[in-house]
Amino acid sequence: MSTDNYQPRPEDKFSFGLWTVGWDGTDVFGPASRPPLDPVESVYKLAELGAAAVTFHDDDLLPDDGTRDKTLERYETALSETGLVTEMVTTNLFSHPVFKEGGLTANNREVRRYATAKVLRNIDLAAHLGAKTFVMWGGREGAEHGASKNIPAALERMKDALDLVCGYVREQGYDMRFALEPKPNEPRGDILLPTIGHAIALISELEHPEMVGVNPEVGHEEMAGLNFAHGIAQALWHDKLFHVDLNGQHGPRFDQDLRFGAGNLRGAFWTVDTLLGAGGLSPAYDGYLHFDFKPPRAEGLDGVWESARGCMRNYLVLRERALAFRADPEVQAAAEAAGVGELSTPTVAEGESLAAVREASYDIDTLAARSVGLEALDQLAMDHLLGAR
Ligand code: GCO
Ligand code: MN
Ligand code: MN
Repeated sequence: MSTDNYQPRPEDKFSFGLWTVGWDGTDVFGPASRPPLDPVESVYKLAELGAAAVTFHDDDLLPDDGTRDKTLERYETALSETGLVTEMVTTNLFSHPVFKEGGLTANNREVRRYATAKVLRNIDLAAHLGAKTFVMWGGREGAEHGASKNIPAALERMKDALDLVCGYVREQGYDMRFALEPKPNEPRGDILLPTIGHAIALISELEHPEMVGVNPEVGHEEMAGLNFAHGIAQALWHDKLFHVDLNGQHGPRFDQDLRFGAGNLRGAFWTVDTLLGAGGLSPAYDGYLHFDFKPPRAEGLDGVWESARGCMRNYLVLRERALAFRADPEVQAAAEAAGVGELSTPTVAEGESLAAVREASYDIDTLAARSVGLEALDQLAMDHLLGAR
């Protein structure tokens, strides 16, 4: 096992938000703990570390109109010099106080119109840069008070906004799809579309559901106590996993945005296994592996780059472990003994009459007493994850 296996390559499709390494440590309890990073310099540094792509919110890269053209030119030069691409763009509809009560679903109509304008302008920029995915994270869409938000109306306005941007992208002939990013809370007490399931349900109500998918984030589902691997498996089954935000989280608490692999390590193992297609049991994910984490506030710039390196390294280590798990003949035998493959057989065969199912005799005592072999299979996974096999 050579450590070169863990050297990221462009074909690994690792991608970083410029706001991740660019976070200066400002939090609700204190000011910046690190000097600001030039986002364009970060492109060079991420390329050096082995990333293939970057992403940004409009305001991360182009915070004001005065410096917009100049920064954009420097950014595009950095892309052509490093070979990195902009795979995704997203809009900041949460920092400015104008969005304090929401963006696309604010009660105030003028705010909603301004939010829409900001998104439209940013879609043009995304198209100019060749980004094929446009993420929508509604950090401020939500409420703290029961009577302050009419949820059905908020959902209507969210649907309107999505129908409108999909229409715009079609009209302009852009090659772009949208990905909704669920989060249960933070910064709002309760955020609209809190989980993968809520987002997928909304998508089915849209005018162009084929243009909208999800961008689930590990920590966001785990903040809600949910199983991230199961969530993305369902998104893949619906053909809705358009993008993914990989990071780490220690269970239900504030959004930690740890580097990928930190926090729930077993969850990370199953996440990688699921993205790889669970040994052929489910559809695999072939998009960019996007890290959305925050280098801990206690770290200096050296720690920022170390945590970015750690995200990719942990993914590659876990990929190796997950592939070894699936390739192990003992694992395959244990999965067989656990009846995992049998779930792929329909319960009622095609053409079979329901009467046959209804009238058959079932030996429920034997069925109840059968061995399911779940612990044996799981221990093999644990051994592979821990490097004990
Ligand atoms: C979070 C969110 C954000 C979004 C990003 C995209 O950690 O709460 O993940 O980082 O992903 O803002 O719009
Ligand atoms: Mn997060
Ligand atoms: Mn995210």
